[in-house]
Amino acid sequence: MSETVSIPKLTKDDTKKLDGIFKRYPKNEASLIMVLQDIQDEIHWLHPDALDRTSEELDVPRGRVESVATFYRAFALEPRGKKLVKVCMGTACHVRGAGMLVDEIERQLGVTAGHGMSEDGLFSLETVNCVGACAMAPVVVVDDNYYAEVGTGKLEKIFKQERKS
Ligand code: FES
Repeated sequence: MSETVSIPKLTKDDTKKLDGIFKRYPKNEASLIMVLQDIQDEIHWLHPDALDRTSEELDVPRGRVESVATFYRAFALEPRGKKLVKVCMGTACHVRGAGMLVDEIERQLGVTAGHGMSEDGLFSLETVNCVGACAMAPVVVVDDNYYAEVGTGKLEKIFKQERKS
């Protein structure tokens, strides 16, 4: 059975954000990656309507926009929560239980690594390679906040804190 992801419409606020983004850059292909990065930062994923508009505004074929969007792993092509939870799966973190953290986060947030978001729309989960903080393994990063020596018992407190900030 195939899984379908329902696509929410762009909100008025999202459309305003897009207006602002397109005002910031010259309207040509050289702006493409910067525009996609800003869409990712401000709307948190590359909505198909935002890709259509990027194609029109920058006068770049839709297929070209799509191929750049799919090439870079940092771009999300499905709805993503406002905050990205990253679990480091580098060697140091892996041997200190990062796999168990992923399982527990998936359970607590009701997401799958790389897909979906928590019911409140706040969190998505991703596994990443070494984030350069091996001495603090296992490491969880929520947006720009690094959490060191994370055990499954610490997760609830981390999410509580992140919900408040
Ligand atoms: S392996 Fe996780 S920070 Fe290096």
